[in-house]
Amino acid sequence: MANNNPIGLFDSGIGGTSIWREINELLPNENTIYLADSKNAPYGQKSKEEIIALSIKNTEFLLEQNCKIIVVACNTATTNAIKELRAKYKVPFIGIEPAIKPAALNSKTHTIGILATKGTLNSELFHETSRKFQDIKIIEQIGYNLVPLIENGEINSAEMNSLLHQYLKPMVEANIDYLVLGCSHYPYLIPQIKKILPKRIKIIDSGEAVARQTKKVLEENNTLNLSNKKGETIFYTNSDSKVLKTILNGNFEVIEKDF
Ligand code: DGL
Repeated sequence: MANNNPIGLFDSGIGGTSIWREINELLPNENTIYLADSKNAPYGQKSKEEIIALSIKNTEFLLEQNCKIIVVACNTATTNAIKELRAKYKVPFIGIEPAIKPAALNSKTHTIGILATKGTLNSELFHETSRKFQDIKIIEQIGYNLVPLIENGEINSAEMNSLLHQYLKPMVEANIDYLVLGCSHYPYLIPQIKKILPKRIKIIDSGEAVARQTKKVLEENNTLNLSNKKGETIFYTNSDSKVLKTILNGNFEVIEKDF
């Protein structure tokens, strides 16, 4: 696989661009292709079988573009489908999982909160991880309807604000000191979440860790792009590109394509 082949990323929609940003910052010379499967969002309410089938479809598209590594920029797809993807394809996969470990290890109140999709919170992979921290109370909350609102560009709407209040209040009352954002769409909600949570509660997501892991695997496989030219990025969406363009501040090429 040539070193200037692109890194491929996919998500159920625009949320995984939060991961793309971290990768682009750490590895600015890499070419990247981002797939927003917004037509099929949200994945969070779908069955494991459906999530696997959509993840295979997205992977096939990225492999046709000769991607040298695939970043599953979606917690729901990672927790439900990454084992099957790794078994089916030779290309390396990087997944994203809720950052339970750093929150649990650093919590002073021994109580942490996690906001994620139903698909992630019900997955075996998530249960395996949370079982490792028996002395920590984990307050789980499904972020019902947050992804559809973000996909609609309603990040600052009154409805979003009211849902966030509803989901976060019990966590504050339970005395969490860490809130784990277990969905790659949610980093776009951090400004609103900060207005709701007391300052003592830290918010963590997995974006930076995913970027570091991507770099490590590229190094191990000798597939880092060593060019000193800035990499190129193509964003694909199978839905209207307006909201994706807005969150990218209009700076990148976005192609509408049915995949
Ligand atoms: N960005 C996806 C995740 O990280 C959102 C899932 C969904 O589409 O419901 O879980």
